[in-house]
Amino acid sequence: MDDYPLDTPSHAGIRPQRPVDEPGGKRAPTPTDILFGPSPAPIGMGAMTAAQIAARATSDELQRRLLETPIAAATERTLLVNEGRTMGREFPLPAETRVFVVANQKGGVGKTTTTVNVAAGLALYGARILVIDLDPQGNASTALGIDHSEGTPGVYEAVIEGEPLSKLLVPCAEHPGIMVVPATIDLAGAEIELVSIVARESRLKRALDAHLAETEAAGEKYDYVFIDCPPSLGLLTVNALTAAREVLVPIQSEYYALEGLSQLLRHIDMVKSHLNPTLDVSTILLTMYDARTKLAGEVAAEVRGHFQDAVLRTAVPRSVRISEAPSHGQTVLAYDPASAGALSYLEASREIAMRNNA
Ligand SMILES: Nc1ncnc2c1ncn2[C@@H]1O[C@H](COP(=O)(O)OP(=O)(O)OP(=O)(O)O)[C@@H](O)[C@H]1O
Ligand SMILES: [Mg+2]
Repeated sequence: MDDYPLDTPSHAGIRPQRPVDEPGGKRAPTPTDILFGPSPAPIGMGAMTAAQIAARATSDELQRRLLETPIAAATERTLLVNEGRTMGREFPLPAETRVFVVANQKGGVGKTTTTVNVAAGLALYGARILVIDLDPQGNASTALGIDHSEGTPGVYEAVIEGEPLSKLLVPCAEHPGIMVVPATIDLAGAEIELVSIVARESRLKRALDAHLAETEAAGEKYDYVFIDCPPSLGLLTVNALTAAREVLVPIQSEYYALEGLSQLLRHIDMVKSHLNPTLDVSTILLTMYDARTKLAGEVAAEVRGHFQDAVLRTAVPRSVRISEAPSHGQTVLAYDPASAGALSYLEASREIAMRNNA
């Protein structure tokens, strides 16, 4: 079964089309297609899709009018994932590095999926990104195709042994622009080892701040940092909340999702008052949203009522493609770039970029 339809305008009708006589019809986009893309293929008698016309428009006025319509926005997203091009509109890059912690102590709500796919979406628009996998499960490392077998140097060495992050970085082959600090199972012991370490709440902050200063001095400033947390409020999560400036909370659009949220917010407030006064719960993303159920709508309304403008307009649908992608060591943007799941993560990335909090 494919993705459930999004409640946003369907992108299906405006995907760049292949020539009608192309043998085998539509082919699956490859990772290189995503980033550089084939040149636009005419359909039938030299006719072009709306996307192709938009992409080739020379008139500024036409370009401007096209960009203002919802169809154009959908076209642009599709062009970007399929052909690695925008219609002349770029994401704004932040002046200062935006450091996000992706946190929710509830397990399986989409923290890792959100981390890797938002990072991938922003990277497609040319952002430089650091992903720190702070979960001993190493799921973010897996989804970005990064080795995290036991003994691989990673975030454990940074937090416990004070190793500089620059020595632990691994570039993500599939998404140029993303650097990863992997997590191995060794990190499971860090929670306990941290207890007896001096300044145990700010170990990650120290490592990250030093790395950010170093990269900035070298003219290689990151635009975004995403820290993927484990499903707990232990010392690893406290380290992430101390190191970050913004909290991104993925909330599963289901009944129990709201339970535990007040505990998370109390925890964040505590970190704010003792360790990191400028921390801001800037972004809430509804995940696994099933538009067919009344419950999902009710949960969304409650979350929007409480968190107001922090909630992204995009809700990520429940999608088989999203759940399949990690088993291929891929983000959904790489695995099935035209799927509703990929497009909604791309749209969420765009919203985050537009809310330039820096
Ligand atoms: N929108 C979605 N549709 C379908 N499956 C999804 C979606 N988002 C995430 N999943 C799947 O749900 C599972 C949990 O997601 P994910 O690992 O991102 O959550 P998590 O909050 O990071 O979990 P943990 O707390 O264990 O770290 C994964 O198998 C993932 O592939
Ligand atoms: Mg996770």
